[in-house]
Amino acid sequence: MQEKKTFYITTPIYYPSDKLHIGHTYCTVASDVIARYKRLCGCEVMFLTGTDEHGQKIEEKARAAGVTPQAFVDAIVEGEGGIRDLWKLMDISNDRFIRTTDPYHVAAIQRIFKRMYENGDIYKGKYAGMYCTPCESFWTESQLVEGKCPDCGREVRYAEEEAYFFRLSKYARRVRELLLGGEFLEPASRVNEMVKNFIDPGLEDLCVSRTSFTWGVPVDFDPGHVVYVWIDALFNYATALGFENGRYDDYARYWPADVHMVGKEIVRFHSIIWPAMLMSLNEPIPRKVFGHGWLLLGGGKMSKSKGNVVDPVVLANRYGVDALRFYLMREFPLGSDGAFSNELLISRINTDLANDLGNLLSRTVAMVEKYFGGALVEARRPEPLDGELIGIVSSLKGKYEALMDSFGTQAALEEIMRAVSRANKYIDETAPWVLARDEANLPRLASVLYNLIETLRVSLTLLLPFMPGSCEKAFAQIGAGKDLTSWEKAGEWGVMPADAKVYKGEALFPRIDLKKELAALEALREAKAGVAETPAEACAAKPAPEAPAQEAAQAPAEPDCIDFSEFEKVKLRVAVVTGCEFVPKSDKLLKFTLDTGDGAERVILSGIRKWYPEPQALVGRRLVACVNLKPRKMCGVESRGMLLCAVTEENGVETLRLLSADEIMPGGSEVC
Ligand code: ME8
Repeated sequence: MQEKKTFYITTPIYYPSDKLHIGHTYCTVASDVIARYKRLCGCEVMFLTGTDEHGQKIEEKARAAGVTPQAFVDAIVEGEGGIRDLWKLMDISNDRFIRTTDPYHVAAIQRIFKRMYENGDIYKGKYAGMYCTPCESFWTESQLVEGKCPDCGREVRYAEEEAYFFRLSKYARRVRELLLGGEFLEPASRVNEMVKNFIDPGLEDLCVSRTSFTWGVPVDFDPGHVVYVWIDALFNYATALGFENGRYDDYARYWPADVHMVGKEIVRFHSIIWPAMLMSLNEPIPRKVFGHGWLLLGGGKMSKSKGNVVDPVVLANRYGVDALRFYLMREFPLGSDGAFSNELLISRINTDLANDLGNLLSRTVAMVEKYFGGALVEARRPEPLDGELIGIVSSLKGKYEALMDSFGTQAALEEIMRAVSRANKYIDETAPWVLARDEANLPRLASVLYNLIETLRVSLTLLLPFMPGSCEKAFAQIGAGKDLTSWEKAGEWGVMPADAKVYKGEALFPRIDLKKELAALEALREAKAGVAETPAEACAAKPAPEAPAQEAAQAPAEPDCIDFSEFEKVKLRVAVVTGCEFVPKSDKLLKFTLDTGDGAERVILSGIRKWYPEPQALVGRRLVACVNLKPRKMCGVESRGMLLCAVTEENGVETLRLLSADEIMPGGSEVC
C-alpha cells in the first residue's frame, strides 16, 4: 500500500498574557482550514498549535496579579474560557498542543542551547542596546523607527547585560539565498522587506539569553541566564514532534514543516532567525513560512492595550462558530490586511450564508418535499439550460484545489459562492413551481431538483474545511451520506442517486436583523464598559431576528404613531410573479402566484383588476408583499398575504400601481 503523504502545519504559539481576541482566532482558523483541506485531500496531517508561556511580560503580569507565573499561565491556557476552550469552541482540529512550560520542551531547549554553544554558534558577550519590554526584543539604533520599537511603536529603553549571543551574522548569506530562492517565504512581497530591511543593512549576532528576569528556560550550564523567549518559542515546532526529547517520536516523519502560518509582524523571526538556527544544527529548513495580514479595527491592529479587542466567544455564540469561521476567511485574502466590523460580519452572514447558501438548501429541500413527497423520482429530462450550471459545478473542485494549494482561501470561497448564486438563478430560470402545475412536466422538475441537490453536494463538500459542523448538518438534509461526500466525488457530477431523499431540518443560517443586532452589540459593549455584563451573559445572548426592538424613540409622538416594534411585526418580502390570472366570478380580484423565497409558491389575491386588465403581463415582475398577514379566503381561494401598491389621483380618478423591487433582488429578499 502506498504511504500517505504527510503535511505538517503550525500556527504561532500564542502568548497567554491576556484572553485571545478575534485577530488570534483569525490566524488559527486560517491554519485549521488548510489542515482540514489537506486531510480531505488524503494527506496525513500534523497540525500543531500551543502557547508561548515564558518571558518578562508574563512574569510582570503574574506579579501584578499576585500569583506565580505558572499559575497565571495555567489559568489563561487551561482555565474555563481559556485558550484550550476557545479552540474547542472554534472547532480547531489541532492534533497536538504544546505549552513551552511543558517539562519535555524545557529540557529539549536546554539541550538545543547547549548544542549550539558547543558547536561555537552561541558565545558569551555583553549586550548594550535598546530594548522593547513588551516585545522582549533588543533593537539596534538603525532598526528603531523614530526612536521607537519598529514592531509595536512603543518606547524602548537602553539596557546592558552579560549575555549569550547567537552567530546570526554567520548565516546571513545562506538565509538571504533561502529567501530569494522564491519558495520559502510567502507572500513574495515579504521577501523584499526581509532582505532590504534586515539582511542587507548587516545582520548582527543575536542576543539569546537574559539575566534581568527569571521566568524562562534556565541555561543549565550558567545559572542566572534564561534562554531568550523567541529561541524557546521557535523550537516548539520541532520539540512538539520529539526533537531532542523522548516525549514524542514524530520528528523523522513530519519534519521539515510544510508551512508555518504566522502574522506579518513575526515573519522576521520565522524567516531569518529560525532558519539560521536550524542551519547551525544541520537540521532541514521548513518548506514555507506564510505571513498573513492583520484583522484591523478602526484602521489599526487590535490590541488589549488599545482597548479595541473583539471577543470571538461572544460572536461565535451569537452567530455560530461556522458563520464566524466563514466570515474570517471570506472577507479578504490571507496575505492582506482587512477591516473587521460587526456590520461587515452580519452583512456577510446575511448575504452569503442566509440568502445564498441557506436559501438554496431550504428551497431545494422544501421543493423535493412538496412536489415529490421527500424523494425524487427516477425519470429525468435534461435540457440545454442545465449545461451552464453543470459546467460550473463540475469544474469547481479543480479551481478550488489550485487556489487552496496556494493559500487562496478567499478566492476558493468566492468560486463556491459563484456556483451557489448560479444555482439560485437557475431556480428562477426553471421556475419549478410552474413545472409542478402539469403532471407531464414532473420528469423535468425532477431533473431540475436533482441538479440543485448535486450543486449542494459539491459545494458543501468543498466548504467542509471552512464550516465542518454546518456542512455535516446540510449533508443530512440532502440525504448525502459519507460515501457520497468523499473528496474524490466532489470532482464528479451525477453522484447522488436518482431517487435522492431529503430530510427537512433546522435553518442553518437564519437571517440576522442588522439594525437590531448592531444595537444589541452596542448595548453589550456599553454594558461591558460598565459593570453589568459578565462573559457568561454575553455568550448566552443570541441574536433574535424576530424579537421586538428595544424602543427608544425620543421625538414627540404623533397621535397615530406606532412603535418601531409594531412596525417590525410586518414582514415584507420581494415577491416574484410566477403566474397571474383573473379570479372567476370576481370583477375586482387578480390571483397571483409568487416566489417569496419559501421554496413553495404563495398565492395572494389582490383587488386591482381594474388597473391591470392584462394579468399575464405581470409575470416576472418583482413586487413587494406582506407575507405574515393572516390567510383569508375570498371567492373560494385562500390568499396568504398582501401586495403593496401606491395610490394617487389622476384627473380626479384614483390610480393605483404595484410597487416594484430592483431586478437584482431574488424572491424572498427581506424588505426593511
Ligand atoms: O507573536 N490580526 O504571540 P501573539 C491577525 N508568541 N493576526 C493577529 C492579530 C490580528 N489583529 N493579532 C494577533 C506571538 N495576531 C508569539 C509567537 S511563534 C514561535 C511565537 C496574530 O499571541 C499574530 O500576528 O502575540 C501572531 O501571528 C499570532 O496572532 C500570535 O500572536
